[in-house]
Amino acid sequence: MSVVIGKLAEQKQVNGLDFPLMVTPSETQKNATKAEFLNWISENKAELHEYLIKHGAVLLRGFPLDSAAEFEKMLDQTDYKNMPYVGGAAPREQVTASRIVTANESPATEKIPFHHEMAQVPTPPGYIFFYCETASPKGGATSILHSGEICKSLFELNADFASKIEKDGVRYVRVMPEVTDNTSAIGRSWKDTFQVTTKDDAEEKMKEAGMSWEWLDNGDLRTQTNTLSAIRFDEETQQKVFFNSVVAVYTGWNDSRNTGKTAVETGKGELMDEATIDALVEQMDGKCVNFKWQNGDVLWVNNHTVLHARQPFEGDRRILASISFK
Ligand code: FE2
Repeated sequence: MSVVIGKLAEQKQVNGLDFPLMVTPSETQKNATKAEFLNWISENKAELHEYLIKHGAVLLRGFPLDSAAEFEKMLDQTDYKNMPYVGGAAPREQVTASRIVTANESPATEKIPFHHEMAQVPTPPGYIFFYCETASPKGGATSILHSGEICKSLFELNADFASKIEKDGVRYVRVMPEVTDNTSAIGRSWKDTFQVTTKDDAEEKMKEAGMSWEWLDNGDLRTQTNTLSAIRFDEETQQKVFFNSVVAVYTGWNDSRNTGKTAVETGKGELMDEATIDALVEQMDGKCVNFKWQNGDVLWVNNHTVLHARQPFEGDRRILASISFK
């Protein structure tokens, strides 16, 4: 099948390149079959990967993809290897047997702040694939933002603070419930987070991840990550990226068990600089693309270089996700 590069109303140009890059079937290919589509993915996977690295995000719109099963088949045509969601904070539901889960199911009224997927674990996924099963009638955009761009903003806003977190790294403190709490965006239980059923097995997983922990009387678990980098150098695109969970944790880790502002600290135990984080959040909202979903859309995101967020919404919304590495 043949495709064309399309234009999207909310798209921006970053470094002279479409963000996200939109790929659609050409005029004569609107009725292409599922088999033809899968074949096209398989034949063009190397080129699609190059687009993903160059543009940071690639939108496939208008292709014959009408179910989670088809989405999984598409991913199976690529060389990306599936990664299970071990260590993530968000409540999720497994959709297909292997690689598809629901995107964060936290309350619709709450914005999910900008983050790199699982930046709080030692080996985060390289790539995220989103699929829109049901677009919400109101709101619900997935916001995307080049991490290199916002990293530059951070150094411009406060070079001392930026250099400090670059040098010292950051660590995250989170109290997890014993049973998943769907009223909280970070309500995933320790059992689901580590995919275990016993405390002993949870401790094994935490040791592997270099975490320290404390069991609380009510069955909750207080965890502290190892010191992780806040700013990384992405070899593939040769740039510094703001690769961490600082903003997400600082602004979003608030529930009956946690307080965002103290849930992230530098490797030396200092709190974040409030004015800098507030100004950075404002810049993030100004520089991002608020991508509006249509049913059947697939969005590929390079998790190494692009941050994502979710806007609040009303009505039904079902976005599926898969995380991978290469
Ligand atoms: Fe996410």
